[in-house]
Amino acid sequence: MPVSSCSDAPMTAAPRAGAPIAETPKARDPLNNWRGQSGAVGRRWPSEAALRAISALIPPAARGGAAALDAGCGSGRHALALAELGFGRVIATDADPQMTELARAAALGSGATLETHVAPLDQQPLPDGTIDLALSWGTLFQLGGRAAAVAALRELRRIIRPGGVVIADWRTDDDSLRTFASDVVEPGTIRLGPGAPAGLAGMVYSFWSADEVSALCAASGLTVVWLERCEIRDVRKDRRFAWWVTGARPSTS
Ligand SMILES: C[S@@+](CC[C@H](N)C(=O)[O-])C[C@H]1O[C@@H](n2cnc3c(N)ncnc32)[C@H](O)[C@@H]1O
Repeated sequence: MPVSSCSDAPMTAAPRAGAPIAETPKARDPLNNWRGQSGAVGRRWPSEAALRAISALIPPAARGGAAALDAGCGSGRHALALAELGFGRVIATDADPQMTELARAAALGSGATLETHVAPLDQQPLPDGTIDLALSWGTLFQLGGRAAAVAALRELRRIIRPGGVVIADWRTDDDSLRTFASDVVEPGTIRLGPGAPAGLAGMVYSFWSADEVSALCAASGLTVVWLERCEIRDVRKDRRFAWWVTGARPSTS
């Protein structure tokens, strides 16, 4: 299994059109509220690390006839990237209807064909074994802990075809965000307190080692076939923001 490390510098592609993100109350608990954030949801470019994993695991020739899902799509930056990468069918889902609306508007603005559905990660509106790639970016580490992450992964496992792949990212257990915990929800899962950077205070994040991520995948019927460590260091503030990228295929045993 390839293991590598990277930094996740912004892409240099042209910005895509997108609707402004409105400030509205939380859709429901315990969904972390990303509306109006300047973080992942508002970004216009996909993560380079996500693109690397996709490129490594799904060759261009296989994409035209393939269906790709962006689960927890936010503004749809990865769904649009999947369309650009040549996937024949692209679906974007999110529990928050405002997010699917943002993704739909972004697709309209860029000319991409995108199916959107409002759905929680653990209840995808898709039949068994019909998806070649299920990407879920910036989501599985903020569902409230281990049980919810496994439920979401099992659902993604259900909808992918034999030989399909689930690509996801996870906060590492040495990520400096952990130091901003105001309370512990369960081991490895905390609520971020005052002082957390980039308006993250109040959000619930989970932090896992590579072995723990592999165990979560195994508990969901998946075997990790791609593992990359990504890291951004802020030397001045002595901070390390780090995440794993996994590609996982259905377990054969
Ligand atoms: C940090 S954003 C990431 C958005 C997008 N994947 C990206 O990379 O820009 C997290 C997204 O997950 C969605 N989300 C959070 N919990 C969810 C759940 N249980 N089911 C479905 N979507 C969820 C949020 O509404 C939000 O759009």
